[in-house]
Amino acid sequence: MKRTYIKDLKDQVGEEVIIKGWVSIRRDQGKMVFMDMRDMTGLIQCVVLLASPAIETAKEMRTEWVLAVSGVVNKRPEKNIKAGVLNGEIELEVKNIEVLNKAETLPFDVSSDTKEINEDTRLKYRYLDLRSQRMQNNIRMRDKIISFFRDYMHKNDFVEIETPIMMKGTPEGSREYVVPSRLYKGKFYVLPQSPQQFKQLSMVAGFERYFQIARCMRDEDSRGDRQPEFTQLDFEMSFVEQEDVLSYTEAMFTELVKTLYPNKKFTATPFPRFTFAQVMEKYGTDKPDLRKNKEDPDELAFAWITDFPMFEKKDDGSIAAAHHPFCSIHPEDKEKFMKGEDLYNIRANSYDLVLNGYELSSGSIRIHDQAEQKQVFKLLNISDEDTQKKFGHMLEAFTYGAPPHGGFAPGIDRTVMILQNEPNIREVIPFPKTGEGKDLMMNAPSEISEAQLRELHIKVRD
Ligand code: AMO
Repeated sequence: MKRTYIKDLKDQVGEEVIIKGWVSIRRDQGKMVFMDMRDMTGLIQCVVLLASPAIETAKEMRTEWVLAVSGVVNKRPEKNIKAGVLNGEIELEVKNIEVLNKAETLPFDVSSDTKEINEDTRLKYRYLDLRSQRMQNNIRMRDKIISFFRDYMHKNDFVEIETPIMMKGTPEGSREYVVPSRLYKGKFYVLPQSPQQFKQLSMVAGFERYFQIARCMRDEDSRGDRQPEFTQLDFEMSFVEQEDVLSYTEAMFTELVKTLYPNKKFTATPFPRFTFAQVMEKYGTDKPDLRKNKEDPDELAFAWITDFPMFEKKDDGSIAAAHHPFCSIHPEDKEKFMKGEDLYNIRANSYDLVLNGYELSSGSIRIHDQAEQKQVFKLLNISDEDTQKKFGHMLEAFTYGAPPHGGFAPGIDRTVMILQNEPNIREVIPFPKTGEGKDLMMNAPSEISEAQLRELHIKVRD
């Protein structure tokens, strides 16, 4: 007999079926055993009567065992009907149980929402934690959100391009993860902090509209809204101005919410806009939480912040690009920029999207002119030689007909976190790292063998 999914049992009343899944809850009442069976589609209450040939197995069975259960779908007696719950009106009268696999007692109860369980334990046994309904829902909604973005992008003529994971450094302000090369002694690949350079080069390549569900890696301290590995909806468009990117993105997020979260409401539409100077003066932060009622889980306060400074002073007094060095310069500040004056008051054509007090996304209109790009590196005190070594390929690409272009990169993890009302992004990433950057389940990072080290020409210092 073919397996029936639990969600479809309501259409099979009176028929004999086989379901497969896990035992969620089990209650031995002496004269009969009740158990809830769970598969990816839902839950069903099963009853094993004393007269059933399955009663012996039912008596010895424990929660989280994996079973194939056959039986007849019955209407529940009137007094046992649970209205408004999936399968609240039916139950399965069990005829036979085949044990597909037994299970030891789990380290924690996965029929709860696991919020109260020690997080290290949850992460060590992530494959069990993910069995809970809350986590299943988070990961399935993440999939729906990603799939919405993909469809939306494709409908708007974007092409998804996979860019390399092993590359050369891209300067976006964080420390990079490095991968030693076996073939080239003393040389290293670097993992991308974002596909920034590749997406710009895809514009030079004439794709005009690129996107990617892109994994990014940054060796930075983790916290609630940061992981060393995270995902962006990375995109780039040619022949656009700032307004084009903003209105495209605003329409996309509005439709995302209306489609997947119809109960949520916007604090304000169109999304309010502030320049960096305005928002700092009014709220003292560049990611203000503009919700009217911060207790309301369904309120979404989006806001745009534009005209960020191009440069910033680091703690050690040195100068850095505030976003990244590829942002174009605000037209009113071009003269100062070319003269190299009043650097910290030069604005970039850059913008952020903020949601409920979180920075959801950053982007900019880029430089596509070689001289302008060289001037940025000069003002960042990067020598001509270093510029050539690190960014020669970008500068060269700009000489072969680079179109004007700009883009954006909403963080997928932060988007899902806020829409799912979770307190941190670990709750919406299937297999995240701890706050200390560890994978407790696989135990990474870990040592590698002496032989591997030798092959990679690497010696670990004390
Ligand atoms: P930026 O570095 O601002 O821009 O990143 C864009 C968005 O990515 C998300 N994000 C993170 N999410 C989780 N963990 C992290 N460690 C983390 N770091 C960033 C945030 C953030 O707003 N290449 C540029 C984009 C561009 O200019 O088009 C970039 O990566 O939601």
